[in-house]
Amino acid sequence: MLFKQQALLRQKLFVLGSLAIGSLLYLVARVGSLDRLQPICPIESRLGPPHLPEQIPLRTLQYKRGLLHELRKGNATKEQIRLHNLVQQLPRAIIIGVRKGGTRALLEMLNLHPAVVKASQEIHFFDNDQNYARGIDWYREKMPFSFPHQITIEKSPAYFITEEVPERIFKMNSSIKLLIIVREPTTRAVSDYTQVLEGKERKNKTYHKFEKLAIDGNTCEVNTKYKAVRTSIYTKHLERWLKYFPVEQFHIVDGDRLITDPLPELQLVERFLNLPSRISHYNLYFNATRGFYCLRFNIVFNKCLAGSKGRIHPEVDPSVVAKLRKFFHPFNQKFYQITGRTFNWP
Ligand code: A3P
Repeated sequence: MLFKQQALLRQKLFVLGSLAIGSLLYLVARVGSLDRLQPICPIESRLGPPHLPEQIPLRTLQYKRGLLHELRKGNATKEQIRLHNLVQQLPRAIIIGVRKGGTRALLEMLNLHPAVVKASQEIHFFDNDQNYARGIDWYREKMPFSFPHQITIEKSPAYFITEEVPERIFKMNSSIKLLIIVREPTTRAVSDYTQVLEGKERKNKTYHKFEKLAIDGNTCEVNTKYKAVRTSIYTKHLERWLKYFPVEQFHIVDGDRLITDPLPELQLVERFLNLPSRISHYNLYFNATRGFYCLRFNIVFNKCLAGSKGRIHPEVDPSVVAKLRKFFHPFNQKFYQITGRTFNWP
């Protein structure tokens, strides 16, 4: 009897011991992988073989991210950059707009692709005369380091509406790919207003109501001098671009669908950029607290966009909304006709 009890106790101790060792090993593995994400760890540990395969598997994302982070911080030596053929490349695709269309979400989501490297900041090279005067080498130096087979993408939504930009981009690269992300024009205008309103409130300044800005008080018509309204007349801006680039060089992204169901939109962009399909359901998960899709790079690294994306819009007088929608309608029709992409905008 005593012997039996002792055997049982030994068995229990063995099971408990195994569990403890298993947990310990798991923790060590987790800490190890977390450690690899820390920017301070030596770069050598992350430098892989110089000859990467044509299509980088998704699991190398963490490596890519860590390496680029170090390079941006200036931690990589010239030797390492040379050894791994790392280059600062001019963008082969640009998200030219539209402001508040979801440009940041699109850039971040495309950056999930192992063959895409994003320029983190809006560079404003082509729309800012001072920056433009600094020359193309200045622009190139703003780009992240990448492997030669990767493509660099930048986004500056002001490009879409700035007069001089199409010609300037054409002079840099006449075959560049241009991405435009649009939302239903009235919603976009309200989103634009909301961003400016928040800026004013932060500075303790007062601001007009959306209705007062969007509707001309004298004529009671839509105020086309109001920038948020003008920006939403997509076809007007696009027509300026079409003087330089054929329509095939543009891809229109549905910004409303990117919010509710991003993957199909991203797959269309992958195809447009001639990239193998690599972004999957795994990389995008809906975060109920945030109310948006967030990004999953790997088992330990995921992120949502900043809180400045997805602001609550003020309520707008329905008669003003109706007036704006009626106003945008013919421009929208023309936009569908030119681009070949139709939306269910009212
Ligand atoms: P709202 O703030 O009006 O909701 P941009 O980056 O061009 O400024 O666009 C901002 C818009 O991106 C936000 O507008 C938001 O709706 C939209 N968006 C799309 N996908 C998003 C995502 N996954 N997380 C946060 N915002 C997203």
